[in-house]
Amino acid sequence: MVRYARGDKRMLHDIMLLRAGKILLGNRYDAKKARTVLKELRAGDFIPMNSLPGKELPGNRPTYFFGKFLYFIVRMAAPEVMVETGVAHGVSSWTILNAMHRNGKGKLYSIDLPNLDLQSYNPENLQKTSGWVVPDLLRQRWELRLGSSVELLPTLMSELGAIDIFFHDSDHSYENMLFEFNAVFHGVKSGGLIISDDVHKNTSFSEFVHTHPLNGIRFFTKGGAAVLR
Ligand SMILES: C[S@@+](CC[C@H](N)C(=O)[O-])C[C@H]1O[C@@H](n2cnc3c(N)ncnc32)[C@H](O)[C@@H]1O
Repeated sequence: MVRYARGDKRMLHDIMLLRAGKILLGNRYDAKKARTVLKELRAGDFIPMNSLPGKELPGNRPTYFFGKFLYFIVRMAAPEVMVETGVAHGVSSWTILNAMHRNGKGKLYSIDLPNLDLQSYNPENLQKTSGWVVPDLLRQRWELRLGSSVELLPTLMSELGAIDIFFHDSDHSYENMLFEFNAVFHGVKSGGLIISDDVHKNTSFSEFVHTHPLNGIRFFTKGGAAVLR
């Protein structure tokens, strides 16, 4: 309690992760593995990202709750195929690929617009390409496609057929979020997951969950996830 009051959220985050894992994975949830993954998060022993000295780039990294969740759920669900929209510098891709690297399996397909978003994600106009922080060692499990998700996501889904996890973090407009959820839904395997950042920005995630055979959770911090029943 005292640690929490001083700003140490680790225990609270651990409890949130364990609870989310149980809800989303059901009888696939492995309590012993969950404790191991929490230890990995505490140790912070990841394949390092490409970085710029003294700069913390924005994105879902495992020091913040939603980045922890991404690492945790990818370690726990051990997906073979995962799709992500919205890459920017590549921090969330790096987080997911670190989890896949530890799993020793999995491939991540990511879609991002070709130019780094200057407004929120690249205000200093770093002359970099999407996903530049992902180091070579992690790229063997990664395929990055550049273009709008409206154009690329339906084609990618028909190529892949079935996927284990979808993660939305591109344009958070109501229309685009619903478009992406609908574009992937029929390819998500039974027991597969739809994860979304920034679900508080509009009602698309909760509407989608309530109108499809999904069990969803929302984190009070940010983001949400749903499992296909
Ligand atoms: C919030 S950032 C992604 C952050 C990243 N997921 C992370 O956590 O490190 C959003 C990214 O989505 C991209 N984007 C926006 N609209 C898009 C669209 N329609 N299709 C694909 N990418 C899009 C932006 O260019 C930006 O790079």
